[in-house]
Amino acid sequence: MTYVLAVANQKGGVAKTTTVASLGAALAELGARVLVVDLDPQGCLTFSLGHNPDRVERSVHEVLLEEVSIRDVLLETEDGVTVLPATLDLAGAEAMLLMRAGREYALKRALADVAEEYDVILVDCPPSLGVLTLNGLTAAAAVAVPLQCETLAHRGVGQLLKTVNDVQRITNPDLKLLGALPTLYDSRTTHSRDILSDVADRYGLAVLAPAIPRTVRFAEANAAGRTVLVGRRNKGAAAYRALAENLWAHVKDGAPLKEWQTES
Ligand SMILES: Nc1ncnc2c1ncn2[C@@H]1O[C@H](COP(=O)(O)OP(=O)(O)OP(=O)(O)O)[C@@H](O)[C@H]1O
Ligand SMILES: [Mg+2]
Repeated sequence: MTYVLAVANQKGGVAKTTTVASLGAALAELGARVLVVDLDPQGCLTFSLGHNPDRVERSVHEVLLEEVSIRDVLLETEDGVTVLPATLDLAGAEAMLLMRAGREYALKRALADVAEEYDVILVDCPPSLGVLTLNGLTAAAAVAVPLQCETLAHRGVGQLLKTVNDVQRITNPDLKLLGALPTLYDSRTTHSRDILSDVADRYGLAVLAPAIPRTVRFAEANAAGRTVLVGRRNKGAAAYRALAENLWAHVKDGAPLKEWQTES
């Protein structure tokens, strides 16, 4: 069984892409066969895994429009995951898809062709609630919501949860809301902790463990086209490895997900 997890939040810069890349690489270390999907026309996920979007010939764009087979587009990476890359063309897919019947199902249909070859598929959604994010949510078994633990982190969460609810009613009744994933977390202040508790209470959201700490290693890794798991030991890599173990036990053995509340 393939487990498809969408990572979504229409708020920008909350570490959606970083989470997909790092969690994907950490799952691969545990022996999972992992595919990551770049659904953002900016192509940041593609780039962060060592492929230049400007030099990618065919991308998720042509796959969604059914112009090429998904198999002909997949790229291998040095981080042990396969990537379905994005290029700026994808910005146009949004408009082209809108004219098509069943537009929310394009990614789900494409993934069905290769799903058996992967244990986990992680989908990096763009910072919007448009048709690309709807494709991610429609293809997924579950959705995780990265939350940057700063003031106003809750803004937009209500709207996102409403979208998840719409998807559950209309295109994907089986979609599960896994919960929030605390990112850019600063354990030295009580501020991060208070914000997380507030958002969790306000929306009745589970908060997954562990929180991902803020560290400069992410920027360094990004520039190098590798994930934080490569190179020097650091607390960011350790956190994503722990998150991967948490998720993998859940996916493989049906273990209940560890939550942040119980960890603290
Ligand atoms: N734990 C962390 N500590 C420090 N910096 C981080 C951390 N996680 C992510 N970053 C940095 O924060 C920035 C935003 O991260 P990222 O691109 O993953 O967010 P995003 O939600 O995908 O953004 P967008 O909405 O634009 O797609 C990047 O520069 C990334 O390197
Ligand atoms: Mg991103």
